[in-house]
Amino acid sequence: MGTGIAQAALSSGYGVIVIAHSENGIGVARKRIESGFEKAIASKAITAEQRDKYLKNLQISVDYKTLENSELVIEAVSEVRKVKESVLKRIEAHVGNNTVIATNTSSIPISILSNSLSVKGRFIGMHFFNPVPVMRVVEVINGNTTSQETIERSKRFAISMDKTPVAVNDSPGFIANRLLMLFINEAATALDEGVSTKEGIDTIVKLGLHHPMGPFELADFIGIDVCNDIMLEIYKDKRDVRFKPSRTIAKLVREGKLGRKSMEGFYKY
Ligand code: 3HC
Repeated sequence: MGTGIAQAALSSGYGVIVIAHSENGIGVARKRIESGFEKAIASKAITAEQRDKYLKNLQISVDYKTLENSELVIEAVSEVRKVKESVLKRIEAHVGNNTVIATNTSSIPISILSNSLSVKGRFIGMHFFNPVPVMRVVEVINGNTTSQETIERSKRFAISMDKTPVAVNDSPGFIANRLLMLFINEAATALDEGVSTKEGIDTIVKLGLHHPMGPFELADFIGIDVCNDIMLEIYKDKRDVRFKPSRTIAKLVREGKLGRKSMEGFYKY
């Protein structure tokens, strides 16, 4: 998700600094961004010359000090509270007081994450969708301490990236994942009950409901571990069993079958 956000921001003319978690991660991030641009070139959305120009505005580093003059920083690490909180603290330690700090959390309430920061008014949720360069909406989530100025700046940033910002009040899973995770989990429960095969369910959803991907293809695309984490985050708050990950989802996570990224999830790749 982080590299997708970087690619989309570069394409909108921004200078972008990506913080990788390790020296190895620097090469991985660059490759992902370059391959995203290849797709954009293949679909004639941009030219090779534009790609070269955008890549000149990209810096990838492991050093948080490089963030010191940033106007806006978007945290996009794993969907685990402790990991996010520690990264947010590190970001805050390196940026000025006027920098907007956004989290691209998929489900964790902004008001909970804001507890890890000392200057809270400039903290906000900006939830992007995969693949970021293609998907046209951003959920802009205000926590209980987010300032109006931060909301306006975040919305302007989303619009400048040709995305539609939609204001959402703080609630676990916000809107998109609250709906989507119920859908994926119910599909997995129907599979567990033997109502149809995964191919059958995906086909019905694609051809009958006109979704671009079936629920299992989409879960593999998002990451089964990410879906599991989001469901648990919502379940923790709502205590609604419909959000408790289905048997198959829990089993896939235990077995490390996390979707496309691990070459196997509901399907083999
Ligand atoms: N950069 C630029 N363009 C890209 C791209 C990238 N990284 N990735 C794909 N594209 C473009 C392609 O070039 C192509 O453009 P064209 O139509 O102009 O030729 C277009 O996107 C479609 O891509 P493909 O032809 O490769 O493949 P598909 O037609 O099969 O579409 C898909 C792929 C866009 C992923 C489509 O299947 C889709 O929309 N799936 C649903 C995705 C979805 O639901 N995302 C939300 C997930 S939930 C989420 O992210 C929230 C999180 O918190 C969990």
